[in-house]
Amino acid sequence: MKISIIGAGYVGLISGACFAKLGHDVVLIDIDADKLATIAKKEDLPIHEEGLQELLEEVHIDTSTDYGKTVDSDVIFVCVGTTADENGNIFSEHLINAANDIAGVLKKQQKYCVVAVKSTVGPGMTESLVIPLLEKSGRKAGKDFGICMSPEFLQEGRGIYHFMNPSRIIIGEYDGRSGDVLERLHQSLKAPVMRASLRTAEMIKLASNAFLATKISFINEIGNICKKLGIDTYEVARGMGLDERIGNKFLNAGIGFGGSCLPKDLRILISGARETGYQPELLREVSNLNENQALKPVELLKKHIKLQGATVGILGLAFKPGTDDIRDSRAIKVAEALLAEGAMVKVYDPLAVANFIKTCPQVLPASKEEVLDSDAVIILTEWEEFMELDYRGKIVIDGRRIEKAREARIYEGVCW
Ligand code: UDX
Repeated sequence: MKISIIGAGYVGLISGACFAKLGHDVVLIDIDADKLATIAKKEDLPIHEEGLQELLEEVHIDTSTDYGKTVDSDVIFVCVGTTADENGNIFSEHLINAANDIAGVLKKQQKYCVVAVKSTVGPGMTESLVIPLLEKSGRKAGKDFGICMSPEFLQEGRGIYHFMNPSRIIIGEYDGRSGDVLERLHQSLKAPVMRASLRTAEMIKLASNAFLATKISFINEIGNICKKLGIDTYEVARGMGLDERIGNKFLNAGIGFGGSCLPKDLRILISGARETGYQPELLREVSNLNENQALKPVELLKKHIKLQGATVGILGLAFKPGTDDIRDSRAIKVAEALLAEGAMVKVYDPLAVANFIKTCPQVLPASKEEVLDSDAVIILTEWEEFMELDYRGKIVIDGRRIEKAREARIYEGVCW
């Protein structure tokens, strides 16, 4: 099939490369010509992702800033980024622009084409926002063109693996013909397919991420209790995880969840619920607990040293290992809190330093050794290389359970 992908961000680029690998003709559209140039040259890629460089070298993808290149596509995927403010209000400017530009293409399109939204949207937005914009083309959804909502569940760092080995393929469809096209497109991927309405698909995505977030905040709360009682939270989680109804995944206690999806999707769901007049108390607490959890390392450190005038080293800035992404990383909150207390902050991360100092320019990039030489060290990302450092003689607050750090002179886990 001819596949067009709008938005060369994380989801768009991985989906494009993987659809090309599956044998489809792919064109990747983005407004950022510089980003497209790095993708076309396969050099200095805009994201760090395991296997992406190799995959791009193997397949062929066209790149363009011109929506005209999408004419006569079988499927146009909308993968532009959406962000949400603290209250869950979505900034849908990119989505609106993309839908308007696709409407221009639909006017010229000769054959039947399905527009599939992959961007995360609030409940009901494909129907209430995207379809009316596309219908400005004078074409009718469900008759002249198809529309689907096709949520992605890729985990950063392992996105290609997850695309090729999905847990499930959820197809939100406006009408049966649209859904049939998407089902055919995914048929070589061996995974259960579930077809649903557009709204249900949107909610499956939001609810899945809200559930993962809940699991993490739940174990963090148990951890906060266990720490007071002198019980090892990780042992408790291991025991709980043996029950297959609970499962052992996403029970790693620590400083909470960051990244581009979990915090944002939770805020979008909370705001969507409130718009209906329902107060989602549980989800609100999941989010509050996560925000407070991020500040635990600073609270704990204050018991051991005076922060004013001290040098504090941070090991790990990425929101999780395997990525250079710092979006909603807990490290931003920790660094800002330390700076506000008058500490000097040295930071080390194998990939994310350049991104971090754009957001938090007051910190000082340093080597691992220099960070370890600080008055105290806080570990915020569980990079493998931190499991081999020499922590003897140091004061360490551990936000991610690095066993080796226990050899420190003073060691505290955030919730164990
Ligand atoms: C997430 C979802 O997992 C994925 O399905 C969705 O499509 C996009 O959002 P991602 O943002 O890549 O993926 O990160 P994920 O691996 O889910 O981790 C999110 C955050 O939770 C990280 O900050 C991680 O450190 C934290 N986490 C995860 C924990 O604190 N404890 C855990 O047990 C698991």
